[in-house]
Amino acid sequence: AATCAIAAVMVGRRVKTLRRWKKVVAVLEDLEEDCSTSVGRLRQVVDAMAVEMHAGLASEGGSKLKMLLTFVDKLPNGSEKGTYYALDLGGTNFRVLRVELGGDSSAIRKYDVDQQPIPQHLMTSTSEDLFDFIASSLKQFVEKQEVSELPEVKSRELGFTFSFPVKQMSVSSGILIRWTKGFAIGDTVGRDVSECLQQAMSKRGLDMRVAALVNDTVGTLALGHYHDEDTVAAVIIGTGTNACYLERADAIIKCQGLLTTSGFMVVNMEWGNFWSSHLPRTLYDIDLDADSPNPNDQGFEKMISGMYLGDIVRRVILRMSQESDIFGHVSSRLSVPFILGTPKMAVMQEDESPDLREVARILNDVLEIPDVPLKVRKLIVKVCNVVTRRAARLAAAGIVGILKKIGRDGSGSITSGRIKVGSHSEIRRTVVAIEGGLYTKNSMFREYLNEAMTEILGEDISSHVILKVTEDGSGIGAALLAASHRFVGVENVQ
Ligand code: GLC
Repeated sequence: AATCAIAAVMVGRRVKTLRRWKKVVAVLEDLEEDCSTSVGRLRQVVDAMAVEMHAGLASEGGSKLKMLLTFVDKLPNGSEKGTYYALDLGGTNFRVLRVELGGDSSAIRKYDVDQQPIPQHLMTSTSEDLFDFIASSLKQFVEKQEVSELPEVKSRELGFTFSFPVKQMSVSSGILIRWTKGFAIGDTVGRDVSECLQQAMSKRGLDMRVAALVNDTVGTLALGHYHDEDTVAAVIIGTGTNACYLERADAIIKCQGLLTTSGFMVVNMEWGNFWSSHLPRTLYDIDLDADSPNPNDQGFEKMISGMYLGDIVRRVILRMSQESDIFGHVSSRLSVPFILGTPKMAVMQEDESPDLREVARILNDVLEIPDVPLKVRKLIVKVCNVVTRRAARLAAAGIVGILKKIGRDGSGSITSGRIKVGSHSEIRRTVVAIEGGLYTKNSMFREYLNEAMTEILGEDISSHVILKVTEDGSGIGAALLAASHRFVGVENVQ
């Protein structure tokens, strides 16, 4: 009788374990279904992106895509000359650069960089604190750089990369529309950020002029174009995500009478705020949005960029642990927002050890969940994959949306995206400059994105679309734009 009782207990336990396991698997399966990005769905996203681009260009507030004017109407071509400073604020780090341009194409002679994380408290402090910090870091850098130079150092020109939505008044000035990526400093919204910086610099006795105020996408496009003139768009996939591209001035309907020397203008899409009912949204996305400092904003960004992916994964693991006691008790760490950063998520995803040692280590050290069985660790790796794959594929759809808008996606008329070579026509080469840690450091993200580009565009067209990593574009590009837009700036005549 005793043996029977023990056997019954063991069977009971096994049944219970099986039930728990099934519940955890169900969480993964639901996630997979809700994150599905079939090529059909991606094509819908492509179309929606192109439609929203038109709407955002047609009227102010016509779309969630702001389609902001940048007043950059010519891109660097290699003739830029002189020494310029650049200041890059907008991601996880804050950087200062000094760039020497030789004026003889390609070779950017020298650049020095100083980089530091932005102190967390400054992201939610006051405008004055933030700009004072930036100006004093810049001053220290300048003094270090110029120590060996003559005292009568010439007037200095600065390219200021400020990677947030800005309504530009000219190439060198613009008003902050709102903060993104966790920054929340109320008194900067509505102010000219160039002026804020200019004031902070004067206060510190730093003689420097903001010659160009640019978004990081625009800096990246500038550097991309400097190296390769077929570059027509730029994408950032880092802490945040966004894109800009070269648009015909006459297509910017909301700004008729816009005078540009080239007939073109770079448009900062602010695609992080793109929204469409075709986007595969999960309950985790809805919760993440509701808990964020900017609910209902930056919906596309919250599914794609480095600031958020780790947190989506954390939410899925939390759900798993609530649905079943497979992890033992629910770790309180699992309820801490952003405790699982995207770089850690990437480490788990790329763990190739047979026993998934890194996964176990991160679950233990970061989330305080010890002794997770191997098969559960495998499941968690799958969660990371689903979230990363969806992000990468959506970013690919966004890129194709731009190509569609500018007639380089192979759809539309037979001549679109083609150039005449002798008696026949060839598909035009199209280069998209790309920057940001999620794309450059996460090889799986890159593979998923490239794969989706080919799926959507087909082999033929996609082989003519080149995604080129443009390292340091957001910084060096700003210096290049400071050089090329030094004296002239287009103005809206209205
Ligand atoms: C956010 C900002 C945008 C920037 C992007 C990438 O989306 O709003 O301006 O380009 O992050 O840094």
